[in-house]
Amino acid sequence: MNKLIGLTRNFSSSSSLNGIKTVTVVGGGLMGSGIAQVAAQAGQNVTIIDVQPELLEKAQKSIQANLTRVGKKIYKTEADKIESFVKESFDRIKVSTKLEDGADVDLVVEAIVEKLDVKQELFNKLDQICPAHTILASNTSSISINEIGAGIKRKDRFGGLHFFNPVPVMRLLEVVKGDHISEETYQAMMEWGKSVGKTCITCKDTPGFVVNRLLGPYSAEAIRMFERGDASAVDIDIAMKLGAGYPMGPLELSDLTGLDNKKFILNIMLEKTGNPVFKPITLLDKMVGEGKLGRKTGEGFYKYEKK
Ligand code: CAA
Ligand code: NAD
Repeated sequence: MNKLIGLTRNFSSSSSLNGIKTVTVVGGGLMGSGIAQVAAQAGQNVTIIDVQPELLEKAQKSIQANLTRVGKKIYKTEADKIESFVKESFDRIKVSTKLEDGADVDLVVEAIVEKLDVKQELFNKLDQICPAHTILASNTSSISINEIGAGIKRKDRFGGLHFFNPVPVMRLLEVVKGDHISEETYQAMMEWGKSVGKTCITCKDTPGFVVNRLLGPYSAEAIRMFERGDASAVDIDIAMKLGAGYPMGPLELSDLTGLDNKKFILNIMLEKTGNPVFKPITLLDKMVGEGKLGRKTGEGFYKYEKK
């Protein structure tokens, strides 16, 4: 029920947009395609930029399928309304491999690979090619917002917008305040988050922000339990679903978010906090080394049908 309310609010908010009306999402993968979808659903014009044309095609397919899911939820059996909802939302999304095509917008949300130097290079370029009013934001899971924006001039117009997977369903947005963000930019980010149907919370540029700081130790301990053979993967997941009321168990969730992503987050958290709970896990390293990254590669703690 709550999910339905979230999705309905998301769609009907199109008439109450704040100053941000045009959005570019850089990176059309798992997260970027979801971010583009919720912005388009809310009536905003969106450009997705990715370096790989085939990933742009994949993003378009998955957005269309997910919009249909949302449309069916809102309009039930009213086929005409579902069709026009999907078409109108989808038509607001353009795709390109050239960053310049997405430069002239109110907001850029970056959702590319989780690597500091690659993100810094992208933001330095965006800082040069975007108009002065454009707000720049990163969807990083774990890297410091201040470090990502270290080289840009518009530090007052930069911050973190951390979405959760799957973006169209998860209702939270963490708005991360770097050291130099202006009050005006922060307020615009909060308003924009609301306009795309999310409940926003605010946090400092602290390792893992709120959710990953808490999820990291939880999932690391679950992986260690499985590695030691304390319980099977299925039983660990059932335990947390039925015993703690979580919608997914920790191992299923790690498969959903990606084991490479998990390993990277744990490494950064260890480096930044020194907490031994974040120390490397032999099994996780082995799985990542073998390309068993979870749902996206067809195998992680479980096996999946390849899409
Ligand atoms: N787009 C639109 N709707 C979607 C969707 C998508 N991509 N994926 C699922 N849905 C909808 C379905 O249509 C369905 O709607 P109804 O209940 O109205 O029928 C609903 O969501 C549930 O989907 P399913 O029935 O397919 O599956 P489920 O009941 O098992 O739920 C789930 C799936 C929503 C993912 C749920 O298991 C869940 O909430 N899991 C926890 C996810 C989570 O914790 N995410 C955060 C990860 S941490 C992170 O992202 C941060 C980071 O930096 C790593
Ligand atoms: P992904 O691998 O699914 O997608 C990344 C996309 O970025 C790919 O399509 C890739 O081609 C593209 N890309 C890489 N470098 C690029 C560049 N320089 N310019 C344009 N496109 C480029 O990754 P994802 O899971 O969507 O993660 C993206 C970001 O979101 C990461 O920072 C990650 O930490 C963060 N995040 C991930 C999750 C999750 O559950 N996976 C949750 C929250 C935040």
